[in-house]
Amino acid sequence: MEDVDALRRELLDAVNAAGDLETLDQVRVRALGKKGRITGLMKTLGDLDPEERKAAGQRLNALKEEVGEAIEQRRAVLEEAALDAQLEAEKVDITLPARPESPGRVHPISQTFDEVTAIFAAMGFEVAEGPDIEDDFHNFNALNIPPEHPARQMHDTFYLADPGDGGERPLLRTHTSPVQIRTMQHTTPPIRVIAPGRTFRCDSDMTHTPMFHQVEGLVVDRTTHMGHLKGCLIDFVKAYFEVPDVPTRFRPSFFPFTEPSAEMDIGCSHQGGGLTIGAGDDWMEILGCGMVHPNVLTACGIDPEVYQGFAFGLGMERIAMLKYGIPDLRTFFDADLRWLRHYGFAALDVPTLAGGLTR
Ligand code: PHE
Repeated sequence: MEDVDALRRELLDAVNAAGDLETLDQVRVRALGKKGRITGLMKTLGDLDPEERKAAGQRLNALKEEVGEAIEQRRAVLEEAALDAQLEAEKVDITLPARPESPGRVHPISQTFDEVTAIFAAMGFEVAEGPDIEDDFHNFNALNIPPEHPARQMHDTFYLADPGDGGERPLLRTHTSPVQIRTMQHTTPPIRVIAPGRTFRCDSDMTHTPMFHQVEGLVVDRTTHMGHLKGCLIDFVKAYFEVPDVPTRFRPSFFPFTEPSAEMDIGCSHQGGGLTIGAGDDWMEILGCGMVHPNVLTACGIDPEVYQGFAFGLGMERIAMLKYGIPDLRTFFDADLRWLRHYGFAALDVPTLAGGLTR
């Protein structure tokens, strides 16, 4: 048998000489791999007599262990050195001044969220959140949309893969209304929340994108009525569009989770090619709303004999397009820097009611 001591020295030297992880791994393969030196010697044990085999086997096992340990130790040293080198190479000097020629811009959707939140916060609303991945109960059933309800077809739902455990398929929420359910399930009225967030529908054309944004509103208290709903939304559109007098009208509509239901239109004018919000000869639909359906309150454990509420839902992209004159919905999601530079907002101009929403 080959001189085990000489082999030991040779292998340990090679381990310590390895200057990087790749070389170290080559050493490991040469020593301990399938065709490695130590492995090769192990295979010859079978040819020895029992006595010799025992002694040689022990020596080889000890060698294998020692070399293995030396490799692990060396690996730890090299890994740390590699990390240090990477940290050094990727060091960023955070004390450098920002480059004035390429300031970041706030996306119009983020800006619109901030504006809407500022307006409703001033009215005493809190911000509520819910998950993008929902279940049937929160997105449909609890909202008075039972299975087979025709409204389900209108939602073009994205379903996720079957979990395979007999459970139902999760889905991407088709509106922010499930946040109404989640809020009512864990709060005792009075409730006053808005829920901004992403929503998803399997729909894509000029005026639809598979992902878009909504803001939900929900107020529940003992005496909440339709007058509160109207007053709240009329104040909102005046503040949001920054025009003192926006004509509004509420048209009867239908949603399974509100009764009565309405759609709100605002006055506008198409004169001179552009679109102007405010008095004019035309109307533009901007949101859906209504009084929370008693079945919805009941599904959330709230007694409809004691409490009533109103809810509304509006599309973020739509109100951003109207306010900022952005003609094409799909450009919101193109991630085109030129577009962002044109329609984006300065990062430090945080919208507030006192300081102005847009400056
Ligand atoms: N969830 C409805 C939609 O996506 C909007 C809505 C919300 C209507 C709340 C009434 C009350 O179309």
